[in-house]
Amino acid sequence: MSDPLALEFCRIGLPLETRLAAFFDALTARGDERWFHPHPFTAAEAARLCAYRGRDLYYAAATGDTVLAYGMLRGWDEGYETPSLGVAVHPDARGLGLARAFMGFLHAAASFQGARRVRLKVYPDNAPARRLYESLGYTLEPTADGQFMGILDLKRV
Ligand SMILES: CC(C)(COP(=O)(O)OP(=O)(O)OC[C@H]1O[C@@H](n2cnc3c(N)ncnc32)[C@H](O)[C@@H]1OP(=O)(O)O)[C@@H](O)C(=O)NCCC(=O)NCCS
Repeated sequence: MSDPLALEFCRIGLPLETRLAAFFDALTARGDERWFHPHPFTAAEAARLCAYRGRDLYYAAATGDTVLAYGMLRGWDEGYETPSLGVAVHPDARGLGLARAFMGFLHAAASFQGARRVRLKVYPDNAPARRLYESLGYTLEPTADGQFMGILDLKRV
């Protein structure tokens, strides 16, 4: 019998809506919306993401009752070849290697969709995220809006 509390990576869908909204609440309580701008951390956004059907990819790392991390690859719907990657980990689950594992998963997911590279943005003072991205090989270049643009060439499937 499988353990319903075991960690799994999964596509985001309707059954996760309440847990994703609770996860967004935890990020907001921590003040993390200052680091992450692709979309707001609201219940309405959780509902939109869980109902979304399209080419972009939205994933969660979850146990039975809790979303522990969120990852996105988006831009294909808008016609871009290179998806934008975003990741966030629950404040209570940080420092355990979850973001590093999720990044590897997202890179593989992007490759399987035919992407040659991924891009992301990060604030210069977001030290945990910068260290993570640099350690994974991202090249970070300053942009006009005060962030860094990170690009990583992916392995080909
Ligand atoms: C950045 C974030 C995703 C890291 O998640 P995490 O699961 O704690 O990270 P991991 O445990 O997988 O650590 C991976 C690497 O991140 C870096 N890192 C993580 N926490 C760090 C910290 N407190 N200080 C400095 N570097 C840190 C390290 O390089 C670490 O690798 P190492 O353990 O081999 O040294 C998490 O802090 C987060 O969700 N922050 C808020 C949202 C956010 O900023 N998202 C990114 C927007 S660009």
